[in-house]
Amino acid sequence: MKAAVLRALNEPLEIRDDIKLVDLGDNEVHVKIVSSGVCHSDLSAQNGTIPTPFPSVLGHEGAGIILEVGDAVRGVKAGDKVIISFVPACNHCNPCLRGQSYLCDDAVPMMMTPHFLIDGTPVHGFTGCGTFSEELIVPASAVVKVDDDIPLEIVSLIGCGVTTGVGAAINSAKVTPGSSVVVFGCGGVGISAIQGARIAGAAEILAVDMVDSKLEMAKHFGATHVCTPDHLEDMKAQITGGEGFDFAIECIGNPVTIRATYDAARRGGTATIVGVGRMEQMVQFSAFELFFADKQLKGSMYGGSNVRVFMPQLLRLWKQDKLDLESMVSQRMEVDNVNEAFRAMEAGEVIRTVLDFK
Ligand code: APR
Ligand code: ZN
Repeated sequence: MKAAVLRALNEPLEIRDDIKLVDLGDNEVHVKIVSSGVCHSDLSAQNGTIPTPFPSVLGHEGAGIILEVGDAVRGVKAGDKVIISFVPACNHCNPCLRGQSYLCDDAVPMMMTPHFLIDGTPVHGFTGCGTFSEELIVPASAVVKVDDDIPLEIVSLIGCGVTTGVGAAINSAKVTPGSSVVVFGCGGVGISAIQGARIAGAAEILAVDMVDSKLEMAKHFGATHVCTPDHLEDMKAQITGGEGFDFAIECIGNPVTIRATYDAARRGGTATIVGVGRMEQMVQFSAFELFFADKQLKGSMYGGSNVRVFMPQLLRLWKQDKLDLESMVSQRMEVDNVNEAFRAMEAGEVIRTVLDFK
């Protein structure tokens, strides 16, 4: 079958049509991918921001149809439509029992298990998935079943960007009705955070991006105000009287914008960091300000989402026209053109590219 493979750091993805899968494990499912979004984290695997073994089949934001299930799998069967969750969950470790399945202790070992074969050698899928492939194998706990009438080519974005961004606003930041929100970055994740803030009832939502066309798009998804980073202080004064925002959400992964996000929150407000920067990059805070500003500084992994509860909620919001997935898709292409999709994302030209599989 066909898949896009990252052979080494900073190399273009190689499109191969000779990829095979390992034998299906008892607790695993074999899925035919229907569509896959191209997320910045895939680019971050290519450029080394997010460490991943080589070679690796990239892609972690997808949806498809189950072809077969392992002997011990219950709850899903061949023919079921599913969204892939890029964090599997064991459902019995402490984080899972606390309702934080996105922090599952067993997720990383499960994500590191190779399921592809190239020339007979086991090959890893990025975050244990590898949705830039016609078919893949994942743990059964990494699929969320959806109703038969759900169009998979539209909802594949829920696999990462939408759950991450909407969840960051609703589950992690806990945006409240009537509050003021600033979102840094208007890619697939930031646009989703804007939609999450809108759904949560924020009064003002300021979208910040360095690309003007992204700011125009942000208005469509619920931003009440937009600006480039150099006008942030003016907008903060205009919207909050200079006090700062109740909620500031970073969806870029840059130390400078992470620091700006903390600064944009008001005293006692909440700064939520969604973007993924490099491990060696540092962000500085004075030892005094953390106390004095009394802000909540939070990370947000997978939108703080228990996917089995949250993904069905997102689908219901979409069905009621409260969550716009269709307008987030800037272009559709085949996996053969995935390098072009990466270039467009790096240039800030798209919210999301979706790859369609036949
Ligand atoms: N200031 C303002 N905007 C910026 C800056 C900056 N310094 N740098 C980048 N941006 C904007 C880009 O113009 C783009 O619109 O941030 C946006 C990032 O969007 P994408 O590249 O589409 O990334 P996305 O998939 O949304 O992911 C964002 O979340 O999950 C993480 O790993 C992911 O760190 C990444 C982040
Ligand atoms: Zn992602």
